[in-house]
Amino acid sequence: METLHVPVLLAEAVESLQCRANGFYLDATLGSGGHALKILKDNPEIKGLIALDCDQDTIEQAQSRLAPFSHKTFIFRDNFINIKTITKQAGVKEVDGILIDLGVSSRQLEDGNRGFSFNLRGPLDMRMDRNQSMTAFDIVNKTPAPQLEQILRDYGEEHYAARITRKLVMQRTKEPITDTLQLSKLITASIPPSRRPRRIHPATKSFQALRIAVNQELDNLVTVIEEAVSILSHKGRLCIISFHSLEDRIVKHTLRKIARGPIQPPDMYTTGNTQAGTIRIITRKPIVPQREETQKNPRARSAKLRVAEKV
Ligand SMILES: C[S@@+](CC[C@H](N)C(=O)[O-])C[C@H]1O[C@@H](n2cnc3c(N)ncnc32)[C@H](O)[C@@H]1O
Repeated sequence: METLHVPVLLAEAVESLQCRANGFYLDATLGSGGHALKILKDNPEIKGLIALDCDQDTIEQAQSRLAPFSHKTFIFRDNFINIKTITKQAGVKEVDGILIDLGVSSRQLEDGNRGFSFNLRGPLDMRMDRNQSMTAFDIVNKTPAPQLEQILRDYGEEHYAARITRKLVMQRTKEPITDTLQLSKLITASIPPSRRPRRIHPATKSFQALRIAVNQELDNLVTVIEEAVSILSHKGRLCIISFHSLEDRIVKHTLRKIARGPIQPPDMYTTGNTQAGTIRIITRKPIVPQREETQKNPRARSAKLRVAEKV
């Protein structure tokens, strides 16, 4: 049976969009279509929903779930950094609300062949968009040691980045590291047994780091926030769900920087392409899931929803 991703903060995210009659909405991370379906079901008066995902498999699954609404749904396979062009292609000038639900879906995580999971044997892939050429194999086997260590430290906040890098480099000089279980064993073996984390798998942080690097997730996040703000209509809402501290930090600072205005020099949180002062932050503190939700869906534990409104 096909895995269906369980949408996180479903009611909270869809309510935060405050959908208006005749409005156009955009789901930048369609996944299994759970959020999209609720937007369409709860708001029969909206004019249309533009939805996209960079993963073709995911799109096919969502397409069949959204079939009853096909007359007002426009689905695209693309990277969300291109939302401005996509919106134009859909024949829409501005949208009245945008949802971005970051990270991978359970469907991607639970398919060993995609290489996202340290528990399932699979190739070192980790691409969300399988048309892209760079994979986790390339990073693990071909990235020079100093850069590899930096990826593990910066994107995984992995304290043992240096040790792990040494181990991986030693191994890859003998023969390439090719599968997820082999990689996860090497990572575990690099961390002293008494220092291995108890609550998470010892390879969690390194796998997160590699996934972020393969998909350029953090750079894309800054870009999509800026692009999203630029295509929102007056009072249109931008709702972003993040799943780890690096993502949430970027969401928080980028939104604040845009809200603060006037135009400031670009830094890691903005590229300088944004009209500063064009949004107002609705959630001073992020919305987090209720205990009931995290009990049913442990993946929701780290989720944070931040909302901003175009002014
Ligand atoms: C957490 S899932 C979304 C789940 C969805 N909200 C649902 O209810 O099923 C995240 C999705 O975003 C997609 N994604 C991640 N980064 C992307 C990007 N830069 N461009 C387009 N899609 C992206 C992934 O392929 C994945 O399907």
